[in-house]
Amino acid sequence: MIRHLALASLLVALLISQVLLADGMAPPPGYKPDKKVKRLFEAKCASCHGDDGRAKTELGLEMGIADMTRAAYWKDLTPEVARKEVLEGLKRTVKGKEQEMKPFKDRLTPEQVDALNIYATSLKK
Ligand code: HEC
Repeated sequence: MIRHLALASLLVALLISQVLLADGMAPPPGYKPDKKVKRLFEAKCASCHGDDGRAKTELGLEMGIADMTRAAYWKDLTPEVARKEVLEGLKRTVKGKEQEMKPFKDRLTPEQVDALNIYATSLKK
């Protein structure tokens, strides 16, 4: 009985976290991008992800980078994971294409990365 209760509460907790995570990362309500953050994104991130986040850049196309303006891009991400990936870099092969984002930890602070990621989520349609 106790075992069942524990299992049931575990399932409920899992369900709640799923619901909370369902939308993934999104800008806070009423978010207005700061000009400085926009410029920083265009300077540091747009060569791959594009000014508009759609990754229709030479590097973006070459690596098959996904479109950041689609909600699906952010669905399984949390601010913590996104921060870590930008700071420490990322390397993987998706559909036969090698994808690489170099670590930014020597060039950006965690706070800047958070601001850039929120900005990037605001490009969402
Ligand atoms: C050299 C190219 C390049 C640059 C510059 C770059 N990225 Fe990326 N980024 C990638 C690649 C490749 C991926 C993984 C493929 C994808 O997202 O479809 C990625 C993925 C991401 C992800 C999602 C990670 C995930 O798990 O899906 C975030 C968030 C991100 N980048 C943010 C940034 C930010 C913010 C900047 C600027 C500071 C930046 N990127 C600059 C290449 C780059």
